[in-house]
Amino acid sequence: MAFWLLFAVFSSVILLPEPAFGKTRHYTLDIKMHNVTRLCHTKSLVSVNGKFPGPKLIAREGDQLLIKIVNHVPNNISLHWHGIRQLRSGWADGPAYITQCPIQTGQSYVYNYTVVGQRGTLWYHAHISWLRATVYGPLIILPKHGVPYPFHKPHKEVPMVFGEWFNADTGAIIRQATLTGGGPNVSDAYTINGLPGPLYNCSAKDTFRLRVKPGKTYLLRLINAALNDELFFSIANHTVTVVEADAIYVKPFETDTILIAPGQTTNLLLKTKQSYPKASFLMTARPYVTGQGTFDNSTVAGILEYEQPKHTKTSIKKNLQLFTPVLPALNDTNFATKFSNKLRSLNSKRYPAKVPLKVDRKFFFTVGLGTNPCNHKNNQTCQGPTNTTMFAASISNISFTMPTKALLQSHYSGQSNGVYSPNFPWSPIVPFNYTGTPPNNTMVSTGTNVMVLPYNTSVELVMQDTSILGAESHPLHLHGFNFFVVGQGFGNFDAKEDPKNFNLVDPIERNTVGVPSGGWAAIRFLADNPGVWFMHCHLEVHTSWGLRMAWLVLDGDKPDQKLLPPPADLPKC
Ligand code: C2O
Repeated sequence: MAFWLLFAVFSSVILLPEPAFGKTRHYTLDIKMHNVTRLCHTKSLVSVNGKFPGPKLIAREGDQLLIKIVNHVPNNISLHWHGIRQLRSGWADGPAYITQCPIQTGQSYVYNYTVVGQRGTLWYHAHISWLRATVYGPLIILPKHGVPYPFHKPHKEVPMVFGEWFNADTGAIIRQATLTGGGPNVSDAYTINGLPGPLYNCSAKDTFRLRVKPGKTYLLRLINAALNDELFFSIANHTVTVVEADAIYVKPFETDTILIAPGQTTNLLLKTKQSYPKASFLMTARPYVTGQGTFDNSTVAGILEYEQPKHTKTSIKKNLQLFTPVLPALNDTNFATKFSNKLRSLNSKRYPAKVPLKVDRKFFFTVGLGTNPCNHKNNQTCQGPTNTTMFAASISNISFTMPTKALLQSHYSGQSNGVYSPNFPWSPIVPFNYTGTPPNNTMVSTGTNVMVLPYNTSVELVMQDTSILGAESHPLHLHGFNFFVVGQGFGNFDAKEDPKNFNLVDPIERNTVGVPSGGWAAIRFLADNPGVWFMHCHLEVHTSWGLRMAWLVLDGDKPDQKLLPPPADLPKC
């Protein structure tokens, strides 16, 4: 009897479901000016809580987050929680003039959302102008209490955030570029957790050091917060295991080098050497570049250091050998392709890949560069691709014009007239040989066009790079959803043949995909989140040039399929 009672109590404890609701976490982020010196160059930059990069935010799956942003700087500000699905809480997504008006000087706004069905490495960043150059930080979503990782429990977890350092003010850089029509100045350094490292002038003291013990497993949470560059990353003499991408568990695989595009995150397991190696190891990153413009070709380095066993003399430390990794060539598209083909959803019983198998709507968008006529009224010398044109970028040849009112508010209040047009084309209006010889006329059209989807539409979208002003890899980011990358390839997408090779079993699920240079990527997602969702190239220069659009997902019929009402403190334009 007692035994059975005990058994019943015990088994009910074991079988207890995970708590459905997490806790509420409050954060206050003060946006302030703050002096920072890098490369022997001091500048006043916009930062979070006087920190650069911003502080690490932590939550658990199921938690509600209430993050109060107070704007103490002259700039308008808005923050985006990159990769958070924001189910029905689009008001908290953050892209300025898409889901909200920016927070003005002296004002504040509370981002209020609940993390549903997600865990892993995400991040936050400013989503207005080029402020994300300095306003960014990790957003770590831990699994629910008692839920283990589907891999070896790490000894320690370490966020490693890649960024780009500009000696000049990034706002001035993009303003200047928009006036002249030319390419914006490139960064002066790449950084890891804000530190450029020993390969740059004046920077040996500004080096990220990862101190490890032998024989342990470390979870490195990599985030690419760089403005304009995809990055290769490698640790000398160490192999890592990729276990997660964009907060989705993947089938683990080993590699010496990874590729990470702006907007993407990658979790790596680093197993340290069994015994003290009497050496240190550089961890380096430098860009993967396919475009024709100028770029920052420098290399950021951090140092992997092993703790010395207690009995060794300090003299050893000074003479430690330092190993350097070998990174792929700057334009190694072959590596990029092989790497992205290795990424597969874990697709376990607990973490299934819910790929939409039936498709309601198929879309075909081109992504690429283009031109606008030069605006000679400003009496500026035109510095675009020719002396009469300025650089532009577009999706399906529409260069998206930022509205002056927020799209979500305009939609919700039924006042969208004159703010946006609900007629984004299903496929380019003027088809051409996208990856062949570019057409003579490279002019884009402009507009604020959105694609309207009924609730729960199952979408297939092929994004096709163009060769206009040079083929280039574009990391496309979709707000509000994860999507499955069911296929990718080079050249023009073949609507008859290519779908035969789609992976509908375990494709990688993510929020940012690199559309291959001179190729295409096919994604699928279920539009089960009502709201207005920005989609754009996560290379900030391309976003600024217009490589962006928005999806408007309508409410469903049921009460829990509708966008929540706007918060009372939603900023006004
Ligand atoms: Cu991380 Cu709209 O961006």
